[in-house]
Amino acid sequence: MKLTMVGTGYVGLVTGVCFANTGNDVVCLDVVQDKVDQINRGECPIYEPGLTDLMKRNLKAGRLVATLDKDLAYEDAEMIFICVGTPSGADGKADLKYVMQAADDIAAVIKRLGSGQTPKTVVVKSTVPVGTTLAVRDRIRQTVGDLPFTVGDNPEFLKEGDAIIDFNKPDRVVCGVEHPDDPNDLTAKRFQEVYEPFTRNGHPIFIMDIPSAEMVKYASNNFLATKISFINEMAMLCEQFGANINRVREGMCSDSRIGHKFLYPGLGYGGSCFPKDTLAVIGMGDQAGFDTQLSQAVHDVNQRQRKLFFDKILAHYSGSLAGKTLAFWGIAFKPNTDDVREAPALTLMQLAHEHGANIRAYDSVADKTGKQSLDEMGVPAEIVSDMYDCLEGCDGVVISTDWDEFKAPDFTRMGQRLVERTVFDGRNLYKRDQMAELGFSHHSVGRPSVTQAGEPQRA
Ligand SMILES: NC(=O)c1ccc[n+]([C@@H]2O[C@H](COP(=O)([O-])OP(=O)(O)OC[C@H]3O[C@@H](n4cnc5c(N)ncnc54)[C@H](O)[C@@H]3O)[C@@H](O)[C@H]2O)c1
Repeated sequence: MKLTMVGTGYVGLVTGVCFANTGNDVVCLDVVQDKVDQINRGECPIYEPGLTDLMKRNLKAGRLVATLDKDLAYEDAEMIFICVGTPSGADGKADLKYVMQAADDIAAVIKRLGSGQTPKTVVVKSTVPVGTTLAVRDRIRQTVGDLPFTVGDNPEFLKEGDAIIDFNKPDRVVCGVEHPDDPNDLTAKRFQEVYEPFTRNGHPIFIMDIPSAEMVKYASNNFLATKISFINEMAMLCEQFGANINRVREGMCSDSRIGHKFLYPGLGYGGSCFPKDTLAVIGMGDQAGFDTQLSQAVHDVNQRQRKLFFDKILAHYSGSLAGKTLAFWGIAFKPNTDDVREAPALTLMQLAHEHGANIRAYDSVADKTGKQSLDEMGVPAEIVSDMYDCLEGCDGVVISTDWDEFKAPDFTRMGQRLVERTVFDGRNLYKRDQMAELGFSHHSVGRPSVTQAGEPQRA
C-alpha cells in the first residue's frame, strides 16, 4: 500500500520504517529540513536500537523516502498516519495544533485533486483526547465538501528503547473506525491489510469505534502511571516506618493477581507520554465537568517523588549545596533512549543548581539532547564523556537513569574519583550491604539509608 507518515519522530519514523519493511511504499513527511536530510542520508535523527539498520535497508530498496514536500507526501497516499506531537498546552490539556495543521494540509491536497480520486484514509496515530479524530474528520470535510475520504484512530503502544520489537510483535493493535460493524468498512479493511504481517502470529487486532480506540491509549498509559505512583507512595511509607520496599515488592508482587511488572520504585515517571497523558485525562475530566481524582493523585505523587528525593540530597548536605559539585549518571528519562523530555534527572539538576550546586553529568546517548535541554532551562552543566571522569572532584553522585553500565560499576574507581563517597541511588541499583562495606553513604528509594560516621542518621 502507499502510506504516508506525518512526523518523523519516535512514532512516525519507527512506524514508517516497519511498514516499509513489510513491503509498503512509505513517504515520511516532516517540517524539519535537518531530520529529512538525515533520514535520506541513512542517518537516524533519534536513538532507537535497531532502527538505523532497518531504515537503511528500506531506503536502499526504494520503499522509504523522507520529504518536506506535502504534495509528494499526500497526493498518492492511500493511508496517511498523523504521528505529530500532542504536547501538554499551558492549561495541561493536549495541544492539538500540530494534528490540526496536518489535517488542514491533507484537506488542501484532497480538495485540489478533486473528484475521481481514490478515497484517502486519514489515521490519527498521535495520542489524542476522545473526540479528536472525529473533529479532524469534520475539519477536513469543511474544506473538501463531498469529496471522498475516511478517518480512523490507531493509537501506538511502542516503548522507546524497544520500539522496533514492540511494533513488529505488538501485544495488540487497536484500530478505531467509523463503522466497526460494517464488514465492508474501507478503513477497517485497510487497517487489516496493512497490519496483517504484524498480527499473523496471533497478535490480536481490535477493530472498534473511534472514541473507544482513542480512550484505550489514555486508559493504558494512566493505568501504568498509576502503578508507578502507587509503588512510589508505598516506598515513601517504607522510609517513614523503616521497611524495605524491595522486600515489600517481593512479598507483594508474587501474588499472581499483582505481578512484578511496572512496580519499581524510583524517581517517578518521565518521558513524552505518561506525564502529558495523565494531564490530558485530567483535562478531559475538566471538560466533562468530572473530577478525575485518581489521575490527579497519580500526577501529584509523581511530582512529589522528585521533590522527596531531592530533599534527601539536600538533607545529606545539611540543607545547603553551596560550593558542592554533584555528578549525575544518566540524563535520559529511561535507558536505551536519547529522549530527555520530562526526565527526572533534569528536574533534580535544576533543583540542585537553584540550591547552589555545580553540575557534572554523563549519559552516553542522551548527552546532546540533555545538554540542549539544560541550556534551554538555564542550568549550567558540564557534560563529561566518561562515567568515571564525571565523578572527578564531586561531592556525590546521583544515579538518575538505570542504564546497564551503571548497574555493576567499579566501586573502587568511583571511590577514588569522588571527593566524598556518597551515592544518591534514584533507581535502587545497588545493594545496601555492599555500599556499607565499601564505605559509601548510600541513599535510595524506599530503603533505609546507609550512613557513614559523622553523617546524621535518617530513614
Ligand atoms: N514517543 C513515544 O514513545 C510514543 C509512544 C506512543 C505514542 N506516542 C504519541 O505519538 C505522538 C508522537 O510522539 P513522538 O514522540 O513521535 O513525537 P516527536 O516529537 O518525536 O515527533 C513529532 C514529529 O512531528 C513533526 N511535525 C510536527 N508538525 C508537523 C506537520 N504539520 N507535518 C509534518 N511533520 C510535523 C515534528 O517536526 C517531529 O519530527 C504523540 O502524540 C505521542 O504521545 C509517543
